[in-house]
Amino acid sequence: MALNYDDIVEKFERYIFNTYTRQPIAIKRARGAVVTDVNGKEYIDCVAGIAVNNVGHCHPAVVEAIKKQAEQLIHVSNLYYTEQQALLAEELVKLTGMDRVFFCNSGAEAVEGALKLARKATGKKEFIAAEHAFHGRTRGALSVTHKEKYRKPFEPLAPAVFVPYNDADAISAALNKDTAGVILEPIQGEGGVVIPSNEYLKEVREICDENQTLLILDEVQTGFGRTGKWFAKEHSGIKGDITTIAKAMGGGFPMGAMLGSEDVAVKFERGDHASTFGGNAISCAAALANIDVIKKEGLVKRSEELGAYLIRKLEGLNKDYVKEIRGKGLMVGMELSIKCDDIVNIARERGVLLNCTSESVLRFVPPLTITEEQLDKAVSVLDEI
Ligand SMILES: Cc1ncc(COP(=O)(O)O)c(C=O)c1O
Repeated sequence: MALNYDDIVEKFERYIFNTYTRQPIAIKRARGAVVTDVNGKEYIDCVAGIAVNNVGHCHPAVVEAIKKQAEQLIHVSNLYYTEQQALLAEELVKLTGMDRVFFCNSGAEAVEGALKLARKATGKKEFIAAEHAFHGRTRGALSVTHKEKYRKPFEPLAPAVFVPYNDADAISAALNKDTAGVILEPIQGEGGVVIPSNEYLKEVREICDENQTLLILDEVQTGFGRTGKWFAKEHSGIKGDITTIAKAMGGGFPMGAMLGSEDVAVKFERGDHASTFGGNAISCAAALANIDVIKKEGLVKRSEELGAYLIRKLEGLNKDYVKEIRGKGLMVGMELSIKCDDIVNIARERGVLLNCTSESVLRFVPPLTITEEQLDKAVSVLDEI
């Protein structure tokens, strides 16, 4: 028997931890860039499960790969070798330019691995992170996440200092002999789609090299074509010593990874780190199919083109409450002079799913497969509002 909206919400309120503010709809199915709720109402999805469904919801190739893999092998743990992990690791190394992969299941877990690896590889303890950075909610990842409200109840956390984003001098000034690494998002996502200059990451790269400190690039949100490149670091032409990825990696299937350059990766020895599910056969099969779709459908280029199209459309709107529109590829933020919660609510009622971050930034991270017509519809709803 299918539950209706009220039944579902009642069970959530009765049985689930009260940690999320949820929108008042229950989603039943989704295809491409369209999501359908339990009442049959359709929405154009400009959220994509928070920058996850880059190839669109339930892409047939990803669904097929999951089904096929499920019939053969679901899980065996990392006590054994599997073909799927081997193939995916090779593919990721080629795509990122890194040397080795550690598989896990989420963004925060990838960041945990990165912090542990940097600590072990350098023997140093502290991290430098950026103001407004978001790296996840587990305790290590939280220690380099900036928002006071998220951190305060869980202190003491691991040692970290926060410096202004897009300011390489601030990193130089904050470095000391115990700095293990600098962790940065190449474009800040939760912090409000903040885009640094291309020179910023180049300068930080040089500073880290001069000070024997590792550069950790958190590409959890910016990876897999989201910003019009496979990975956002390509906008600056640099490489991190460690890179974290997750979100769009598995075409909607939960998955994450940490990648390291050879000299750093070798510092993790047998027993230093582990994950029961990391690199699980189904998630690897989903990720391989996902990467294949991004390549075959030219979604990286499409993200670049549609992102520019969306920005042009948004710039054509009434500017009364608009402070700034910024973006790279289909990672676009429209900063308002008012809070954006009400706009998100009205847009949803009118059939468009939007996300508000940092209180006043409307964040557009739709599937990279979204059509111009669907984007037009979303922008026209915003125009009415
Ligand atoms: C840059 C970045 N790092 C890490 C995370 C944490 O990922 P997860 O929610 O999968 O733990 C996020 C999530 O939004 C993120 O945007």
